[in-house]
Amino acid sequence: MTQLEKITAQEGFEEFRHAYRAAIKEIRTKIEILSEDFAVRHDYNPIHHMERRLKIPASIEEKLQRLGKEISIEAARDNIFDIAGIRVVCNFVDDVYHVRDMLVAQEDVTLITEKDYIANPKPNGYRSLHLVVSVPVYLMSGMQEVPVEIQIRTVAMDFWASLEHNLRYKKTKNIPKNIDIELKACAEVSAKLDARMQKIFDELGEIE
Ligand code: GTP
Ligand code: MG
Repeated sequence: MTQLEKITAQEGFEEFRHAYRAAIKEIRTKIEILSEDFAVRHDYNPIHHMERRLKIPASIEEKLQRLGKEISIEAARDNIFDIAGIRVVCNFVDDVYHVRDMLVAQEDVTLITEKDYIANPKPNGYRSLHLVVSVPVYLMSGMQEVPVEIQIRTVAMDFWASLEHNLRYKKTKNIPKNIDIELKACAEVSAKLDARMQKIFDELGEIE
């Protein structure tokens, strides 16, 4: 039996995945309701689109190995906080923080960690707001608090991150230094564009 088979064959594995799938649904619904409410009040929708993913067993195994943990459901539950993932792609930078504030203000949403790679971009230029929150999920076995990783970013940040990801994983892992510098420069151009678009949005708001 391989390590991976050991975890997927473990009793309770399907229920374990189901809890994360349910948590994704809970958060998605919350964000959808918020964005509809926001749209009604402000005649404008802050959210461009959402994506979701449930980490596949092979990636769970790979991450546990990377962390030097045993391959088990318990170790995954205790050490991996991005089994359930949601990406919220917003139109403007301010929308990112509006979505964050509206979500975190909800009583049954608990903020576990927050990394603001917009205020503090990664050295390679990557920008996004990363939250890990937990939500209660009610299953037949009772209530569980389930963590969900939420990445909130603008369309421009998403554009850069998707292309950077493709370049990094399709081509050789050893990207030459000058390409790293060029990619970072692109991230900066993109951030300037976001700031200009936000300014236009704000100016139009003042005219209305
Ligand atoms: P992981 O073990 O990969 O989850 O990393 P981490 O726990 O240190 O979290 P981190 O906040 O660095 O990144 C988590 C996720 O953000 C990644 O799985 C990607 O989806 C995204 N991400 C982080 N850094 C980059 C980056 O440099 N480029 C791109 N394209 N995505 C990134
Ligand atoms: Mg991850």
